[in-house]
Amino acid sequence: KSCPAAAPGRLPFSTVTPDDLDFFRKILPGRTITDPDLLQSSNVDWLKTVKGSSEVLLRPRTTEDVSQILRYCNRRNLAVNPQGGNTGLVGGSVPVYDEIIVSTALMNNILSFDSVSGILTCQAGCVLENLTLYLEERDYIMPLDLGAKGSCQIGGNVSTNAGGLRLLRYGSLHGTVLGLEVVLADGRVLDCLSTLRKDNTGYDLKQLFIGSEGTLGVITAVSILCPRKPKSVNVVFLGCETFEQLLQTFQLCRGMLGEILSAFEFLDSECMRLLNTHLKLPNPISDCHFYIVIETSGSDPRHDGEKLHNFLEEAMTSSLVNDGTVATEESKAKTLWSMRERVTEALTHDGYTYKYDISLPVDRIYQLVTDMREHLGDKAKSVVGYGHVGDGNLHLNITSPTKDPEVLAAIEPFVYEWTASCQGSISAEHGLGLKKRNYIYYSKPRQAVALMSDIKAMLDPKGILNPYKTLPDNLK
Ligand code: FAD
Ligand code: MLT
Ligand code: ZN
Repeated sequence: KSCPAAAPGRLPFSTVTPDDLDFFRKILPGRTITDPDLLQSSNVDWLKTVKGSSEVLLRPRTTEDVSQILRYCNRRNLAVNPQGGNTGLVGGSVPVYDEIIVSTALMNNILSFDSVSGILTCQAGCVLENLTLYLEERDYIMPLDLGAKGSCQIGGNVSTNAGGLRLLRYGSLHGTVLGLEVVLADGRVLDCLSTLRKDNTGYDLKQLFIGSEGTLGVITAVSILCPRKPKSVNVVFLGCETFEQLLQTFQLCRGMLGEILSAFEFLDSECMRLLNTHLKLPNPISDCHFYIVIETSGSDPRHDGEKLHNFLEEAMTSSLVNDGTVATEESKAKTLWSMRERVTEALTHDGYTYKYDISLPVDRIYQLVTDMREHLGDKAKSVVGYGHVGDGNLHLNITSPTKDPEVLAAIEPFVYEWTASCQGSISAEHGLGLKKRNYIYYSKPRQAVALMSDIKAMLDPKGILNPYKTLPDNLK
């Protein structure tokens, strides 16, 4: 029996001919890449676990370029893989076979910024960190932040509905994205690039494309509501002994920090071991079972400092936390944040990583890690837990020296059944891509998946956009 994550057979799309290449070279001179060396990195995902064999990479600059590409590919029945920064973690960002890669890397212009409303409009290929730098100069920030900020693009963020480290404070992209411009499979341009906070004129079509992983259209521009840059930011790194204490600290923190709380993240002692071993990052406090990263963002350093001080005093005197350190200056804050942000990177040095991104009722999130450790015994090299506590989002990661079907068979479907038994989600923020598509039924009813498939058929009748991704191979 083949593994449900494995790719199905190649669907009967056309293959690229010299005539096709002539067409692409005519509309994208110098931006139609066929050199295998240049194509290599676009064919492999960030985790280096999925590899396609595309022979063509197209680098459009404008919406009109994308429209011409898709109109042509749709007519010729050529499959297309939209690609942003290629930091996706579920095998959605690279071709499975020979799909044409359409990269947004050159679509990196900021189109407008309104410094009164804080609304930014930009092309889809803008790198998240560049947007943050642009906004910081204007006293604003992006409403999202991820460890992949240096490479991921806003179009990729929207297409995966990325969550990240600030969701607790600013909410999901379903709320902050105000408008999208999308090129549909047949080349039509859907201009929903509104910059209005309120607009109840009919169905909110942009929501369909947020999190649709390039299967319904190519996002070419985004308008997004940005918060003011906080005048005071503090980062706290705390350690505690039990997950119960960690949850109590979260409750205390919400109560005492209130509106200035902007992140509440965690990692366990196994993550700390990997950070120490593989990245030589020293533990900033004494050894504990669990570590918490708390960020506050506010407008008054004195007020925020006082609140934080009172919270820390209470957390220490009530013995919820054992140790901790605070950063007010930027460089120390960055160092503390890297203990959380670089766990993903540390894991890649530990071996083959089996990655799970689970939403659960917050009081259950660590139980899954404990149960998985017990269930796997000595089959796995490392079993680690970290994630976005404030959002009820656990990142359960397991490693083995090399990819091992026996380890995989021990993890799946155990992890998915466990999640479904708590009415959790088998993908909280990374999407389904290639790897998770066939597990959708653990989190969505049959009728919902059937409706998704109808929407896909309506918007992309030939199925050329990111085939083999997101939707399951067979409808139930
Ligand atoms: P890609 O990886 O290039 O593509 C992702 C998906 O979107 C693919 O299916 C692709 O086909 C599609 N796509 C890309 N651009 C477009 C477009 N313009 N139009 C239509 N479809 C498109 N994710 C989180 O949610 N939270 C995190 O905290 C987080 N942290 C991360 C940390 C690290 C170190 C890494 C490596 C990844 C992390 N991720 C996280 C996952 C990943 O970064 C996000 O999913 C990110 O949003 C992907 O953006 P990208 O530009 O790299 O997209
Ligand atoms: C994170 O929160 O660090 C990211 O989602 C990446 C990961 O899950 O490893
Ligand atoms: Zn995450």
